[in-house]
Amino acid sequence: MNCAIRTEGIVKSFGSRTVLDGIDLDIKGGEIFGLLGPSGAGKTTLIKILTGQLTQDSGTSYIGRKDTRKLTGADHKRFGITMDNFGLYDRLSCYENLLTFARIHGLPKSSITDALAKVGLSDAAKTPAGKLSKGMTGRLKLARAFMTDPDILFLDEPTSGLDPVSADEIHRIILSEKARGKTVFLTTHTMTEAEKLCGHIALLNEGKIVEYGSPEEICRRYDHQRMLKIHLSDGRDMELPHNSDAAAALSELIVSGRAETIHTTEPDLETVFMELTGKELSA
Ligand SMILES: Nc1ncnc2c1ncn2[C@@H]1O[C@H](COP(=O)(O)OP(=O)(O)OP(=O)(O)O)[C@@H](O)[C@H]1O
Ligand SMILES: [Mg+2]
Repeated sequence: MNCAIRTEGIVKSFGSRTVLDGIDLDIKGGEIFGLLGPSGAGKTTLIKILTGQLTQDSGTSYIGRKDTRKLTGADHKRFGITMDNFGLYDRLSCYENLLTFARIHGLPKSSITDALAKVGLSDAAKTPAGKLSKGMTGRLKLARAFMTDPDILFLDEPTSGLDPVSADEIHRIILSEKARGKTVFLTTHTMTEAEKLCGHIALLNEGKIVEYGSPEEICRRYDHQRMLKIHLSDGRDMELPHNSDAAAALSELIVSGRAETIHTTEPDLETVFMELTGKELSA
């Protein structure tokens, strides 16, 4: 699959507030794409439009070649979704939760055991969802998204509120789905998550995509200082310009073994997004 998801000029308003104001995106099949933006930026709204839960005011969005306003039940089986409001039934076990989903979608029972195994919850099959840890709940939500063996996963803040170890388990599951050729569209407030997982990211702010690219590309674009910071073996720190003027001095420091560490000054994503939005992403 080449272009898995495409949007052209998507506009969506709620009352007088324009939440999405002309969103153009091209997301290739088989990549993990991250949509970042401050709280209230419209990330969930865009996922809802792409998955046929909401209709845009204008513009067109496609999953493959299909207009998302015309998605059928068969199309819905091609994607898995995790969102906050996709509640689980607390009193039902993990297995029973997935059984309910399997019945609604006419899926075989093998899809339940397969999905539980994929997220490492086989041993918790009989545990009520309400008794799971947050990390396990996150994995159960993923299990449900996997049940139709979808081509595309829409994961709305899949690690929100999780400790680093639980988040890392979810990251490993997402990366293994990518390795199986799946396309992943995720939203996150965590910059390290975006850097670790995403081939491309877009930053949504005040209705517009204000940056797009790989995390590394974006950070390089905002390296205003263009310096090299060098820590010397005698404990001192020094800076050299990040250009050919510094070549001789740098070479001497490396050859003589005096340079202990060398760092470029490109900012991290968090800093770039603060600069672009004036807001913290986690706010
Ligand atoms: N059904 C709705 N009716 C009215 N306003 C809505 C509706 N859904 C979303 N909004 C508003 O649209 C804006 C964007 O909401 P959305 O949930 O898409 O943001 P978000 O980027 O997902 O935020 P967060 O990071 O907090 O999840 C918010 O101001 C929200 O209040
Ligand atoms: Mg949201």
